[in-house]
Amino acid sequence: MTSETYKFSQASTQYYFDAAFSNLKKIADSRAAIIITDENIFNAHEAKLKGWNVIVLKAGEEFKVQATVDTIIEQMIEMEADRKTTLVGIGGGVITDITGYVASVYMRGIGFGFIPTSVLAMVDASIGGKNGIDVGVYKNMVGIIRQPSFILHDLKLLESLPESEWQNGFAEIIKHACIKDAAMFSELEQHSVSDYRRNRKKMASLIKRNALIKIKVVQKDEFEKGDRKLLNFGHTLGHALENQYELSHGQAISIGMTYASLISAQLLGFKDAEKVIAVLEQYGLPTYAEFDKQKVLEVLKMDKKRVKKEMSYVLLDRIGKGVIQPIALKQLDKIITAL
Ligand code: GLY
Repeated sequence: MTSETYKFSQASTQYYFDAAFSNLKKIADSRAAIIITDENIFNAHEAKLKGWNVIVLKAGEEFKVQATVDTIIEQMIEMEADRKTTLVGIGGGVITDITGYVASVYMRGIGFGFIPTSVLAMVDASIGGKNGIDVGVYKNMVGIIRQPSFILHDLKLLESLPESEWQNGFAEIIKHACIKDAAMFSELEQHSVSDYRRNRKKMASLIKRNALIKIKVVQKDEFEKGDRKLLNFGHTLGHALENQYELSHGQAISIGMTYASLISAQLLGFKDAEKVIAVLEQYGLPTYAEFDKQKVLEVLKMDKKRVKKEMSYVLLDRIGKGVIQPIALKQLDKIITAL
């Protein structure tokens, strides 16, 4: 098992890209660690978790809320967790977000690491240090930026994922290609989810390439003053849709990327909106969608990227080059209503 260290402003993260779940015992002391996972992961991997302290949560974004934080903290107190305890989040984005958040506030901060178990968590949710919870329909409204001390990838964990989970992860991969990597966009155009599912080596290299895109962006702009905002491509509308409709994160941001590409065509003369939409469809993701525009715009206006009457919107200048464009809320209202 090899590891690579990436430095952030206040901490470093050790990445184990080619590891196995069983390597966890070399990284964390099972007596001083508490694993946080959800029922699905626990049921699928119970044998691997023998000998570890485990807190099992109900699965789903609806549990990424303060009430769950309270129950985790109560269980940690019962388990006599102290400042030397390490929390290990094993799961998708909900688990990594809530684990990092609890670790950041318990006794004013203890160590934590992740074993992401979905494509989306490996290429995106586990990386970057944003940890938090939702409040009502407002996603990630409360949280903190604090980096995990390690992230371990075991690609075997992806084998049992349903197709929809793969598609979910590819939404973030396509996002990275759109904003930062035109060559990867061309590679994606030539393949499909099933090609990557069949070829673990190809998938491992795609996951690492995507993790590195995100790591580099975060290293340069951890507190989202500039370039990190590019990672929100598709997310402004996506987040507004996600908690109001029965959509996965990947599906919601896919619709968000579709509309952001169309807005890019209108405002910046972006020529390849149809190419972006075609790739999203090729990976089984929804694009054009019927939604209650007024209702969604109301939520969108509360987005963290809004400053007074303007929204920082991520658009595409060309494939591989995302740009941040302030758009007046009135203008955005008009454009989205007309699309
Ligand atoms: N934890 C996700 C992020 O920092 O973007």
